[in-house]
Amino acid sequence: MIVARTVADLRARVAARRRPDTTVGVVPTMGALHDGHLELVRRARADCDVVVLTVFVNPAQFDDAADLAAYPRTEERDLELARRAGVDVAFVPPVAEVYPAGFTATVALRGPLVETFEGATRGSGHFTGVTTVVAKLFGMVGADRAYFGRKDAQQLRVIQAMVADLDLDVEVVPVTTVREADGLALSSRNVRLTADDRTRSVALSRGLSAAAAALADGERDAAALLRIAGAPLDAAGIRPDYLAVVDERTFLPVDRLERPALLLVAAPLGAVRLIDNVLLSAP
Ligand code: PAJ
Repeated sequence: MIVARTVADLRARVAARRRPDTTVGVVPTMGALHDGHLELVRRARADCDVVVLTVFVNPAQFDDAADLAAYPRTEERDLELARRAGVDVAFVPPVAEVYPAGFTATVALRGPLVETFEGATRGSGHFTGVTTVVAKLFGMVGADRAYFGRKDAQQLRVIQAMVADLDLDVEVVPVTTVREADGLALSSRNVRLTADDRTRSVALSRGLSAAAAALADGERDAAALLRIAGAPLDAAGIRPDYLAVVDERTFLPVDRLERPALLLVAAPLGAVRLIDNVLLSAP
């Protein structure tokens, strides 16, 4: 596995591996790799000839300086995990390589998709930071396919919308959420949960599963599903930032489940903010 730290080196390394009909897959991450990230790498490895993993803690998408400072950084371990997972090129640029002096461009979407939920809680700049860096990473790597987790459902949808709006020649591949045995969605932030909050955290996935089970039993009313999903949170004393049933494309609220929808939840537990979701798809 090659480690590239400059765009020029990254491009040279990818070019050296490209043949006619070669597919190049990119897995963008902020590092502190866990099995969720590695699942994206495994998918890319199975689908593509060349796999590029990017590790960059993107300052532009953090609304909170303390969260940026506390974000776990485990580069040596990440590179070892990436090597073992079969990554060809790891791109680990310093901030000045991505945002050199004089950098002024932004890629920004507008409307409810970026202004609601994570966009509302974390501020409108959050998704602009994400779309700007992901557009840049696509340009740097020259990827044919890009792998994103369903765990960050709104981010996935925002990136699909960006690719469509800008006619980018990249296929966005969604990957199922990887969970702990008790249901907690893997996240780089989980390591910062206290033991007590780790125990309480299971309420999020329990609520989502209970709502999915109720849907399978015939419940179609979003308000009823939200009451079911909210009960374990109440019991654990967790007050979510949001708990909502939304259309999977527009992220606008849904009253009745006539088409597949997403049940979204985000909640602070101590200093850590957790997000999760489940696809509600009526049988
Ligand atoms: P990060 O939080 O490191 O996540 C990188 C990718 O891993 C995202 O596509 C995310 O959805 C996916 N992922 C995280 N936890 C997962 C899980 N439990 N199961 C499956 N996939 C999971 O998301 C970002 O970084 C950044 O915003 C980024 C896209 C890299 C832009 O900076």
